Amino acid sequence: MLLEVEGLTVRFGGLTALADVALTVEPGEIAAVIGPNGAGKTTLFAAISGFLRPQAGRVRFAGQDVTGMPPERLCALGLVRTFQVTRPFAGLTVRENIAVAAHLRHRSRAAALALAGRVAERVHLADRLERPAAELTLAGRKRLELARALATEPRLLLLDEVLAGLNPAEIAEMEPVIRGLREDGITVLLIEHVMQAVMRLSDRVWVLVGGRIVASGPPAAVVRDPAVIEAYLGPGAAERLERERALAGGA
Ligand SMILES: Nc1ncnc2c1ncn2[C@@H]1O[C@H](COP(=O)(O)OP(=O)(O)O)[C@@H](O)[C@H]1O
Ligand SMILES: [Mg+2]
Repeated sequence: MLLEVEGLTVRFGGLTALADVALTVEPGEIAAVIGPNGAGKTTLFAAISGFLRPQAGRVRFAGQDVTGMPPERLCALGLVRTFQVTRPFAGLTVRENIAVAAHLRHRSRAAALALAGRVAERVHLADRLERPAAELTLAGRKRLELARALATEPRLLLLDEVLAGLNPAEIAEMEPVIRGLREDGITVLLIEHVMQAVMRLSDRVWVLVGGRIVASGPPAAVVRDPAVIEAYLGPGAAERLERERALAGGA
């Protein structure tokens, strides 16, 4: 197991954002966390990646207990996250933005800038390399966020809604980029709202509702799970769908 989360609990004052969450990610897989807005997905990433200290529970990464470790140390170990709301250094070029992250493992400026160029190529930002980051569109900023994470040369990449707000053509361009990470030995755990993309990309899905994991498994099975249908469509939805299916004569 590359990542093992056990009993993870995070409270914000009186609000329990995560309650006893357990999940695992195997090396080489693309796993997804789905769930309605406010389910605790981003909080889960923050707790795994050291941005939030959980009130209870453990996070193990590559066999090591990393619970409560600060983000810089986790990043150095190879566990890195992207942010749902991207914040590039607006005054720097795209290449310089990526190079800042590349400096984690490359001391020389030349090496960091060169790595930035290679990473930009992979996320289809090569033609914008010398432009100011402030000029990027939303799709460009999402790619830059991914590029900055990749420049730290991670083993496990947590992607928080990198497809959100993109149009279908932009999503179609990003999907092979994410799938391709696997060939470079990068394991991926992603949060995603675009269900079609989750179905196409992920080997395994974890469903978070109200701070709890309510289902997990291969995407095709998970979307048929009554607990998941009700979480998205409301109480009684699974039964209604079943009835409609029966009436329509479908299996
Ligand atoms: N820093 C915080 N302080 C207080 N409440 C928070 C904080 N971050 C998130 N929350 C609350 O925790 C719950 C889960 O939020 P979040 O993890 O962002 O959900 P998701 O990413 O699934 O939409 C929400 O009710 C949200 O309002
Ligand atoms: Mg979120």
